[in-house]
Parts: sequence; C-alpha cells; structure tokens
Amino acid sequence: MKIVVLGSGGQLGRDLTPRLPGDVLPWTRAEADLTRPRELRAALAAARPDVVVNCAAYNLVDRAESTPEDAFAVNAWGVRDLAAACRDLDCTLVHFSTDYVFGRDAGRRTPWAETDAPGPCSVYGLSEWVGERLVRESCPRHFVVRTCGLYGVWGSGGKGGNFVETMLRLAGQGKPLRVVTDQTCTPTYTADLAAAVAALLPTGRYGLYHLTNAGACTWHEFAAAIFELAGVAADLTPISSAQYGAAARRPAYSVLANAAYAAAGLPPLRPWREALAAYLGERNRRNRT
Ligand SMILES: NC(=O)c1ccc[n+]([C@@H]2O[C@H](COP(=O)([O-])OP(=O)(O)OC[C@H]3O[C@@H](n4cnc5c(N)ncnc54)[C@H](OP(=O)(O)O)[C@@H]3O)[C@@H](O)[C@H]2O)c1
Repeated sequence: MKIVVLGSGGQLGRDLTPRLPGDVLPWTRAEADLTRPRELRAALAAARPDVVVNCAAYNLVDRAESTPEDAFAVNAWGVRDLAAACRDLDCTLVHFSTDYVFGRDAGRRTPWAETDAPGPCSVYGLSEWVGERLVRESCPRHFVVRTCGLYGVWGSGGKGGNFVETMLRLAGQGKPLRVVTDQTCTPTYTADLAAAVAALLPTGRYGLYHLTNAGACTWHEFAAAIFELAGVAADLTPISSAQYGAAARRPAYSVLANAAYAAAGLPPLRPWREALAAYLGERNRRNRT
C-alpha cells in the first residue's frame, strides 16, 4: 500500500504520518500545494498512491472573514480538484473537516450526528463544508473526518502553536487570561485522532465520520484543566464570546457524536481530560530530550 500525506508538516500530518501502514510519502506544502491543482495531479499520477490523506487546510478562522477567497482557494476549490484527481487515479481520499460546519443553530445543546444538516456561522466553516461536499460527491472512495479543537506536540504551523501551549506560555509570563465560557466542544489530541484514522482506514467503510476525544467542555474549562494538570498557577477569568470579540462567529455548541466510528466496531477515543494529561506528559518528555 502506498499512501501520500498532504500537509504533512502540520500538527495532524506529523502525528499521522508515522502511524500509517506501508510506503508513506509525506508531502509538505512546498512539495504539493492544493492551490496548484495541475502540478498536484501530475505528482499524484507519477506517485500512483492507493490512498491520499489530506491534512492540509487553510484554518485561520478569524482571518478568513476578511479574505474568504484564500480560505475557499484551499478548503473548497483546492479540495475539489484533489477529489477529482483521486477519483480519476482510482485512489481513496481521506479528508479532514471541522465541527465549524455547525453553529448556525445557536440553541443546539446535544451532540451533532453525521446525519445532522450542517449550517456554518463563519467563512472558514462554510469553506470547509463546501470542500467536504465536493469530496463526498465526486470521489467515491472517501473518508471525510470532521474533528475539533486540535492540539498536538508539533503545534499548528498556520496558527503558530496550539491552545495548550498558548495558555501555558501566557500563564508563564504572568499575564491575566480571559477565556470564553460560552463555546462548548471537544478538544482533541492529534495523536489520538491519528491512531483512530489509522484504525478506520483498513475497514474500507467509506463515508462521513465525526472523530474527537470523548466528552465536552468549554474553552474556559479546558484552560482550567490545562493549569490543574500542569500544576501551573494562572490568573484565569471566564468571559463571553462577545467580550472576547473575535472576527469570526464560532458555534456555541459543536460537540460531535462519534456514531459512525462506533458503528464501524471501533472503540471510542479516550475522554478529553485523559488525552490532555497524555499530551502534557508527551510534551514534558520532548522538552527534556
Ligand atoms: N486545528 C484545529 O483546531 C482543527 C479543528 C478542526 C478541524 N481541523 C482540520 O484538521 C486538519 C489538520 O489541521 P492541523 O491543526 O494539523 O493544521 P495545521 O497544523 O495548520 O496544518 C495545516 C497544514 O496545511 C498546510 N497548507 C496550508 N495551505 C496549503 C496549501 N495551499 N497546499 C498544501 N498545504 C497547505 C500548511 O502548510 P504551511 O505550514 O506551509 O502553511 C500546514 O502544514 C485540517 O483539515 C483542519 O481544517 C483542524
């Protein structure tokens, strides 16, 4: 089996690459750019992979509000051309999407199922929804995996780190922290997501999946757990999204029920708090070496 990983320099790409079986070709943006579809198609035609795993995305959620064409160029039109290339080359496409395809229903307080109709409330969410629709409609052998709040030891290149590292850095500088308490979701450790995707791939059960760690919390609760588990004192204050004033609206509740993954006979991912503890252990090991 030959597998190409796109966006292999990102935090998920780096955790997924070593967990995949067979001959794995990790391609960074420099080697394969989703906004250069002809070159990407030619590279794929030459490599002839059985599977393409797309970890590449434009995920600057706030910036996308003022530059929607950049988000759509990668997440929608780049993904459209990738899906067509995978179909024509007869290979499986694993593509990642987001909990931000939900959010327009502000009153929702129960986990979203794969069968629920999306309704994004941001440009980023809309661009991802268009991209996943194009994958599902044009590439028959696909896994579209919606996930949420990723953090991994490599940090997100585009975002310059991850939420856990940002919290620990600011607390270390003695800065007061104001974190939103009206957005509930499930932060997810990329190492756990990567292992789950590696388990899903050989099932051949193509389709749409929600994949996150288990449980739910607000970003404020997540921040409090980071400081508690890391043994760090922090000046942490709960605020509302309106007080925070981000450019993009975010869902008030975007917990994803991992029903399709369970129906495939695969075990649930561990609770978010256990995953966070594992991440903090891994990061400490890395910092020591
Ligand atoms: N991060 C989250 O909280 C989150 C939440 C839900 C879903 N997701 C989805 O999960 C997936 C992985 O996210 P992540 O956190 O690992 O993101 P990440 O660390 O920011 O990695 C994204 C990668 O995509 C690359 N990239 C950007 N534009 C590209 C283009 N035009 N062509 C090729 N590569 C390009 C980036 O390269 P450069 O470093 O060179 O820019 C980067 O290596 C994405 O589909 C994302 O939308 C993420």
